[in-house]
Amino acid sequence: MNLNFHLVEFERSYGRPEQLPESDLPEIVFSGRSNVGKSSLINAIFRNRGLARVSGTPGKTATINFFRLADLRFVDLPGYGYAKVSKTEKARWKNLMRSYYESGREIALVCQLVDMRHPPTADDLAMIGFFIEEEFPFLIVLTKSDKLNQRQRRERMAALLNEVPYADEVTMIPCSTETGEGLETIRDIIREIAQP
Ligand code: GTP
Ligand code: MG
Repeated sequence: MNLNFHLVEFERSYGRPEQLPESDLPEIVFSGRSNVGKSSLINAIFRNRGLARVSGTPGKTATINFFRLADLRFVDLPGYGYAKVSKTEKARWKNLMRSYYESGREIALVCQLVDMRHPPTADDLAMIGFFIEEEFPFLIVLTKSDKLNQRQRRERMAALLNEVPYADEVTMIPCSTETGEGLETIRDIIREIAQP
C-alpha cells in the first residue's frame, strides 16, 4: 500500500487507564525501557521531529500517546525500568501499561526496543516473555546502532541469539535515528500491515 508517512497525526494522550478508548483500529505499539529511543524512533519513521516528545532525560513520555495514519494507529508508551521516578509514579505507569495490553486491543505489531549496546534487561525479557505468552506479533528493534563499531555489533548480534528466547524466530532490526539504519525496513513492515 502506498502510505504517505507525512500524513500521520497526533490523536491524544492518555494518563489514566479508564480514559483509554476502545480499540477500533489495528495498533502498532512501541515498547521499551525509558530512554531507549521509542519517541525518537516514531519521529524518525515519520520524518517529523515534532511528533513525539524526545528527551535526554529518561521518563520523558509519561502518558500513552496515540498517533494515526490511514487506518492504523501508532502507540508511544511510557518507558519502564527508570529508577529515578517515585514509587507512586512507577505504579501509575505500570497500571497504565497493563491496562493498555489487557483492554482487548487489536495489536497488529509490538516493536520492542532494546538498546543495541547492552544485553536485554530483565524487564525487556519479561516484556518479550509476555508477548510470546499472549501471542502478540512482535519484533525487536535494536536502537542506537550508530554507537557501536563493527566488532561490537557482531558481538551483540551473536550474543542476542542466546539472550532472546526463540531468537531464531524473532525479527531483529538494528536501527539508528542518526544514520537512518533500519528505518526503511520498519516502514516496509508498516506498509505490509496497512495492506487491505
Ligand atoms: P521515555 O519517553 O523516557 O520512555 O524515552 P524514549 O524511549 O521515548 O526515548 P527518547 O526517544 O526520548 O530518546 C532518549 C534519548 O536517546 C534522546 O537523547 C535521543 O536523542 C537518544 N536517541 C534515540 N535514538 C537514538 C539513536 O538511534 N542514536 C543515538 N545516538 N541516540 C538516540
Ligand atoms: Mg518517549
